[in-house]
Amino acid sequence: MTDPAHDADTLRERALTTLTTARARTTLLTSCVEDPDLTAQHSPLMSPLVWDLAHIGNQEEQWLLRTVAGREAMRPEIDGIYDAFEHPRAARPTLPLLPPTEARHYASEVRGRVLDLLESTAFHGTRLTEAAFAFGMIAQHEQQHDETMLITHQLRRGPQALTAPDPEPAPLLTGPSEVLVPGGPFTMGTSTEPWALDNERPAHRREVPPFYIDTTPVTNAAYKAFIEDGGYDDDRWWTPEGWAHIRGNSIHAPLFWRRDGKQWLRRRFGVTEVVPPDEPVLHVCWYEADAYARWAGRRLPTEAEWEKAARHDPAGNRSMRYPWGDDDPGPEHANLGQRHLRPAPAGSYPEGESPLGVRQLIGDVWEWTASDFLPYPGFQAFPYKEYSEVFFGPEYKVLRGGAFAVDAVACRGTFRNWDYPIRRQIFSGFRTARSAGDT
Ligand code: AVJ
Ligand code: FE
Repeated sequence: MTDPAHDADTLRERALTTLTTARARTTLLTSCVEDPDLTAQHSPLMSPLVWDLAHIGNQEEQWLLRTVAGREAMRPEIDGIYDAFEHPRAARPTLPLLPPTEARHYASEVRGRVLDLLESTAFHGTRLTEAAFAFGMIAQHEQQHDETMLITHQLRRGPQALTAPDPEPAPLLTGPSEVLVPGGPFTMGTSTEPWALDNERPAHRREVPPFYIDTTPVTNAAYKAFIEDGGYDDDRWWTPEGWAHIRGNSIHAPLFWRRDGKQWLRRRFGVTEVVPPDEPVLHVCWYEADAYARWAGRRLPTEAEWEKAARHDPAGNRSMRYPWGDDDPGPEHANLGQRHLRPAPAGSYPEGESPLGVRQLIGDVWEWTASDFLPYPGFQAFPYKEYSEVFFGPEYKVLRGGAFAVDAVACRGTFRNWDYPIRRQIFSGFRTARSAGDT
């Protein structure tokens, strides 16, 4: 019997839709500022926007036109420039980058050929074409760079270039502030999700002791209480590395925050505003999340705990694709896709809650976990070691759940993101947990 969700027409349609959505977003992010803002480097942490644009086209050309379809390189001389491993981000402005007009032209030439290829590709035979995987991987890659480019926009100084409607106010949260996730094994990762990336595979059983987890991400108001309590001046809450980092860099609050008399202001996409108390805290590093949790008498959830909270259905005793079930994310479930340029207030999206009543696991803010980025048992790098494998190890911490900046195609209950524990230009927040044995 054929699974209707995986038949060729459905996959072709999904590939076309997700590639088209990604390109519309890329176009917006690279046309809302003038050319000098595309070629400038707005932060040494980021590439010039015009690098991301041509890199998107170059990866698409390499994987779909060359690897899948066996075509010759369109512009072999530019491959090195757009290889993320050849040049660190800080060095990219000095490269002979394609100027904006040429970069746009190159990316759209590639896309035209890819859409022709999509019509004629059979979705079986090799692992890359199976279930349109390579097309899905490239749609996700473009959306990941659209998130990266949104980070660059946030770091850019100057007048506002992007606008979006704000999320609805949250419904009143009357339930408990934490829930008990019962102990026992659950299935972590996936072997069946067609477009899941290598690091999400394979599905495997994990034993997770009982624990409590916050029903919402930690808010700005709660985080402000940590600041006002002297949290940044008390080494009891910090790991030695975290303490050295915040003292050495004079960090006293989340990135983009500034104290103004008695209140806190923040800069968000070119606008300065009062920090909204009910919104999940954003732009904190792993060290800050970890210190807050310790101050609160709690800890960060492990990655396995986070995924169990997000996917385990106690009634059906199985892992679901998302907290709300197996349906793809809709606007009623989660704040995804850059529909809004901020997280929604804590307690939003009741229709997206997990069976145990945990909200906003998907969307709003990336959530730091306690865990290092490591391979699952049985991991196999696919289709290239540089996507995940070269990053495995204790230098990187895992983030889960996606943010408002993340598109649904690049967000799943199994999706894994990672970054250095000092990073906070990313759209990162967190929630806390505690072991059920603790009081
Ligand atoms: C998964 C977000 C860590 O941006 O470095 C983009 C995604 N990989 N191009 C990154 C990625 C290759 C990656 N992260
Ligand atoms: Fe990339």
